Amino acid sequence: MNERDSEIMGQILSSHGYVECNDMESADLVILNTCTIRAKAEQKVMSLLGALRKIKTQRPGMKICVAGCVAQQEGDHLIQRMPHVDLVLGTQNIYDLGTYIARTTETGRPVIATGMSKAFQIPAFLPTDREAIGSTGDLHPFRRFVTIMQGCDNYCSYCVVPYTRGREISRSAQDIVAEVRKFVDQGVKEITLLGQNVNSYGRKPNGTARPCSFPELLHQVAEIRGLHRLRFTTSHPKDLSNELIGCFRDIAILCPQFHLPVQSGSDAVLKRMNRHYTVADYLERVEALFACRPDLALTTDIIVGFPGETDEDFALTMDLLERVRFHGSFSFKYSDRPGVRSCNFDGKISEQVKSERLAIFQRRQDEISLERNGAYVGSRQEIMIESTGDSGFQGRTGTNHIVHVDQHTDLGPGDLLEVEIYHAGQHSLKGRFHPKH
Ligand code: 5AD
Ligand code: SF4
Repeated sequence: MNERDSEIMGQILSSHGYVECNDMESADLVILNTCTIRAKAEQKVMSLLGALRKIKTQRPGMKICVAGCVAQQEGDHLIQRMPHVDLVLGTQNIYDLGTYIARTTETGRPVIATGMSKAFQIPAFLPTDREAIGSTGDLHPFRRFVTIMQGCDNYCSYCVVPYTRGREISRSAQDIVAEVRKFVDQGVKEITLLGQNVNSYGRKPNGTARPCSFPELLHQVAEIRGLHRLRFTTSHPKDLSNELIGCFRDIAILCPQFHLPVQSGSDAVLKRMNRHYTVADYLERVEALFACRPDLALTTDIIVGFPGETDEDFALTMDLLERVRFHGSFSFKYSDRPGVRSCNFDGKISEQVKSERLAIFQRRQDEISLERNGAYVGSRQEIMIESTGDSGFQGRTGTNHIVHVDQHTDLGPGDLLEVEIYHAGQHSLKGRFHPKH
């Protein structure tokens, strides 16, 4: 979501005459678009702001903006800690970036724009032609994100998102379809629909929009001619409907990839996390998914060391890993976030135990990923090419695996090609294709 927000800010800036440059030293404006989901993400922002302070001492005219969740969370505290920051831009305020930058110039003082409203509506934001050229950083011109909703009402006890992104709000299907269509007209081949919990899309529609469920939205987007691949993230297991699972059977361009964060394999921990499902519920949903789409690649998120997590609880998480054998996972040490309920929970786990549990989990996950990847060896997979070089090229399968090919091709980024997989590593595959003569 931050990547998409950064694109939008880039688009606003280019309409104000800004051009992108490659280094912070020569920039007139630096925006840090920030994340505060875990303590580590926030620490990175603070150390980068420290480095920027030095640059700004040499070039006092430079402006520094902190946008996103750290900005939302810290507000004017950020200016107190980092007086060299010119603009603190909250998550609902990025669309008015141009106005706020102008205000910093007019007033010569730091501006704090972190207001949030229950009535907030995500504006219709059509990509401009310039954006489609792929001028914004590392973005692939053929693969883009589209935000379908913002905020979250789930209040998992460890999570800061409901506070930094605000109440859940869905965009109208009409706006979303228009945005995707515009991207596709400009040559985009793959779209990932984004929301904190896409399964509840449409429950709280933007303004007067006609209610539309997430599966209905997927069908509408999939009908856009010229779109080759469709993905989405993220889903909450408690809301995963049979209708959505059925989309993996019925929508040909919906990629066989699914991210379904489970967080823990212990019912007691899940309850304290306020997740509203049990391990048995989760396993039942996973079974239904694989029954519908046997070639699905399933990934998850895990938190280790949640307050009160016993050795037995952690062993249950390891059991779950053995039962599901996730294709991959993102695993994190629990960290306290400001204002969330779990900050006040008893039984905080030491850093050392958290690190040990994380290492055990990740070691086993790596082995499983390698075994899972090994199952692709000998199969034929359609890949979308991402980048080409002198000695070969790189693409991605529908299951979201990176494939390296060390043969020359005349095809380019965004083109589809069938390859045969001949080698599997932990994080990527190797493939070859048979050139047509
Ligand atoms: N500590 C550790 N991990 C967290 N996540 C969210 N909040 C925390 C926290 N306080 C993880 C969850 C979530 C992912 C995006 O980040 O696993 O799914
Ligand atoms: Fe955070 Fe996701 Fe829970 Fe929402 S559903 S509170 S974003 S972990």
